[in-house]
Amino acid sequence: MVIGGTSGIGLALAQHYADRGAELALCGRDAGRLDGHPLGRDPRVRAWSLDIRDRDAVERAVRDFGAGGIDVLIVTAGQYADAAGLAHSPALGPALVQTNIAGLVHAFEAAAAVMRRQGHGQLVAVASIAGLLKEYEGGSLYAASKRAAIAICDTYRKALAPYGIAVTTLVPGYVDTARLRELNGGDASAKPFLMSEQAAVARMVEAIDARVARRVFPLRLHLLVRLFNLLPLRLRRLRKK
Ligand SMILES: NC(=O)c1ccc[n+]([C@@H]2O[C@H](COP(=O)([O-])OP(=O)(O)OC[C@H]3O[C@@H](n4cnc5c(N)ncnc54)[C@H](OP(=O)(O)O)[C@@H]3O)[C@@H](O)[C@H]2O)c1
Repeated sequence: MVIGGTSGIGLALAQHYADRGAELALCGRDAGRLDGHPLGRDPRVRAWSLDIRDRDAVERAVRDFGAGGIDVLIVTAGQYADAAGLAHSPALGPALVQTNIAGLVHAFEAAAAVMRRQGHGQLVAVASIAGLLKEYEGGSLYAASKRAAIAICDTYRKALAPYGIAVTTLVPGYVDTARLRELNGGDASAKPFLMSEQAAVARMVEAIDARVARRVFPLRLHLLVRLFNLLPLRLRRLRKK
């Protein structure tokens, strides 16, 4: 089951699992986004329009699809906002927090209930390398929410281990999705160590299959972030975005 599976990273992951013969549930606020995509016509794929902020809707979809069991739940649903975005559109802040933080908890809780009963399962969240940046004045609400997502995964991993449920946190750098391009005026090529969707999916699937706790990639961006975190605060302040 992929919540956020109607575009970008989530859809690319779904395509991978479909190619491996999986039965899939793909969710987004507008499942109609799958119209015209091969997965939208695949009989092994069920699509749900749901908002991850709506706990009841998430529970209903998980219960419905989960009646036949759920091996893996992947949460890629996410919103982006920095200070400039919040200045123009104050509604972005609550929407981001409810999606990236509360929504993740809704999805994990609902799927964990099914997985506890079946005695196995895996919860996966797509956080972001932005969540590893040490606090500084140029920090975004997005980075804070992804930091929270990483911590949420850590907590659920500990809580659910006795039930045979693994929790995998994927912490990618920049992935060349349509959404990232849209946020960058149509071209994300200036982003450091930009990965194609396919390259990112390969790294993610490998981590999911191995049930690793946390996978941060690409290595070079991870090293840069670690270096940045070592800088004194007055130098970290110079980073604009
Ligand atoms: N692209 C990158 O460079 C990058 C890097 C690091 C981390 N990430 C993270 O990876 C995830 C996917 O990013 P992406 O670039 O693939 O973006 P995307 O194409 O916009 O994918 C987001 C998916 O989540 C769904 N979604 C958004 N809000 C939702 C909500 N409230 N309820 C249910 N579904 C919702 C979207 O469908 P609807 O809009 O129809 O709801 C879409 O299917 C995000 O969490 C992002 O923060 C991305």
